[in-house]
Amino acid sequence: MKRIAIFASGSGSNAQCIAAYFKTNNQVSVECIVCNNPNAKVLDRARKFGIPTILINRSQFLETDEVVQTLLDKNIDLIVLAGFLWLIPKNLIQNFQIINIHPALLPQYGGKGMYGMNVHRAVVNNKETETGITIHMVNEKYDEGKIVFQTTCEVTPSDSPERVAEKVHQLEHKHYPQVIEKIISEL
Ligand code: GRF
Repeated sequence: MKRIAIFASGSGSNAQCIAAYFKTNNQVSVECIVCNNPNAKVLDRARKFGIPTILINRSQFLETDEVVQTLLDKNIDLIVLAGFLWLIPKNLIQNFQIINIHPALLPQYGGKGMYGMNVHRAVVNNKETETGITIHMVNEKYDEGKIVFQTTCEVTPSDSPERVAEKVHQLEHKHYPQVIEKIISEL
């Protein structure tokens, strides 16, 4: 059995798709959802799936080894970031394989401040004709680890940033679970 920890601090629609995808899989299990926001919708979604949640605060995350130790105790094989905005500290990077999903085609529209609707607004403002998703390994810099998967969707002149966000979310929900399955099978 391979074990995943999902880090998510927002709505958690990706976390939900991942949980649903692996629910009946006897090779891979979602062991916990780590969250830094006590009001995040992802916590309700986790409860519905019966997945334990771990609520963390910034100093505990950045200044102690508590999170590393908790995940080592759970024998986690892969950390999956799905809407988790804090920079990942060295101690986690040294101990775990970590992947992230970014809602654009890196290296474009990446880096600090490029998250959520900021990304889609920039794509529309620049009159891009396509955007997409990037799944990449995580290192110590935002959005710079090795790219493992990208796919695109069209942006039409009439698309609002909200419409682009919808299209990108659809791509994420379709591909992220499958890419996770492939990566974890190769670990
Ligand atoms: C996704 O768009 C993902 O690319 C980004 O954060 C967003 C999370 O969305 N890293 P959700 O909370 O899974 O709906």
